[in-house]
Amino acid sequence: MNIKNIDAYQIYDSRGYPTLEVEVELEDGTTGRGLVPSGASTGQFEAWELRDGDPTKFRGKSVFNAIANVKGEIAGALKGDSVFDQKNIDQKMIALDGTPNKSRLGANAILGTSMAVANAAANAKNQKLYEYLGNGEGHLIPLNEIQILGGGAHADWATDIQDFLVIAIGAKTYEETLEMTHNIYHEAGKVMKEKGKCVGIADEGGWWPDYTNNEEPFEVFMEAIQRAGYEAGNDVAISLDIAASDLFDGENYHLRLENKKLSPDEFYALMKDWCEKYPIVSIEDPFADTEFDYWQKFTQEFGHRVQVIGDDLFTTNIKRIEEGIAQQLANSVLIKLNQIGSVSETLEAITLTQKAGWLPVVSARSGETEDAFISHLAIATNAGQLKVGSFARSERMVKWNENLRIQRHLGDKATFIGGKIYDQIFSTASV
Ligand code: PGA
Ligand code: ZN
Repeated sequence: MNIKNIDAYQIYDSRGYPTLEVEVELEDGTTGRGLVPSGASTGQFEAWELRDGDPTKFRGKSVFNAIANVKGEIAGALKGDSVFDQKNIDQKMIALDGTPNKSRLGANAILGTSMAVANAAANAKNQKLYEYLGNGEGHLIPLNEIQILGGGAHADWATDIQDFLVIAIGAKTYEETLEMTHNIYHEAGKVMKEKGKCVGIADEGGWWPDYTNNEEPFEVFMEAIQRAGYEAGNDVAISLDIAASDLFDGENYHLRLENKKLSPDEFYALMKDWCEKYPIVSIEDPFADTEFDYWQKFTQEFGHRVQVIGDDLFTTNIKRIEEGIAQQLANSVLIKLNQIGSVSETLEAITLTQKAGWLPVVSARSGETEDAFISHLAIATNAGQLKVGSFARSERMVKWNENLRIQRHLGDKATFIGGKIYDQIFSTASV
């Protein structure tokens, strides 16, 4: 089944920023779409998101050049190709682009096309996307990592930490993770409103707090868990995305909220203190993406009981993940399609992570769309974990809801292992 036509349009993401929708049409009239997400706290090693930069058009954020690249060069190169050869199509676009970070044609142009090709191929085979991407092997319904409070670049630095998330480690079913999260999310909102500390909703749907120091959110979080009737550390655990590269100036870490400057050693001590004081099961980007020594030391010290996730550290980049594995910098990799810019490279990054005995966490971006591609990606690859922001707003809920649909579609084949996913890294990591 060959590609007949490729078209692209400007649509708008969850922040109302322009992004791309690509549509691939096959010779028999089958179509597939790709909707491209966009980050705010992006890592310096990510593939290049091509924006027009013309202040008179959408304040510089329009993507008309990326759209022209899809309709022109990319469509020209891919017309007539077999839609089932995802890797070949992605490699062809990478070669056509010719830069190491997809900056000529734009990673958004390439990814939108790549996702649309995958969707069209699944449609042509009359399969669900997760069946197609996973060659029928996907069956594991992911454990959710769900944001309760938003901060950092997603809430104008209301807290220095970007995400306070909950993981329902004690849930026996996927539905139960959603119920527990629902209860804690709303209890946290209530606690914050009672204390006059809730300003609204941050970019990913979590509560946007009004705090004066970085300990307050932990107190609210612990109170919400307890008032919702759960035992912290047993039923549910805390997960943090520090997004530390955003705090680092090359020498020190800056805590804007407390107007404090911490040396890398002092910052290490702070991460250590939090992991000792609170029931933290997972921590993402605890150090800047250049501070390998601290990552290594931290993973050695906490990797036996804390999932240490590299997001900005790895940017879903095969070479960076390989280097991280060789140096044991972490024990988990955050997986974002648009950090690397094609479906087949993303699949490769997940496989590489799993082969090393590490855990992949499939993730959304802070700028999301109404598309649920990542739910299918997580289940197709048996990644075991999914991070999509909060338990509010439809661009987030569509992913949790799609997991429920896929679970129903899988029927008896669906499996859910919940918090047992961590046995794999916690038993093997060096203490
Ligand atoms: P971003 O945030 O999409 O703004 O980069 C998500 C994350 O850091 O995990
Ligand atoms: Zn992150």
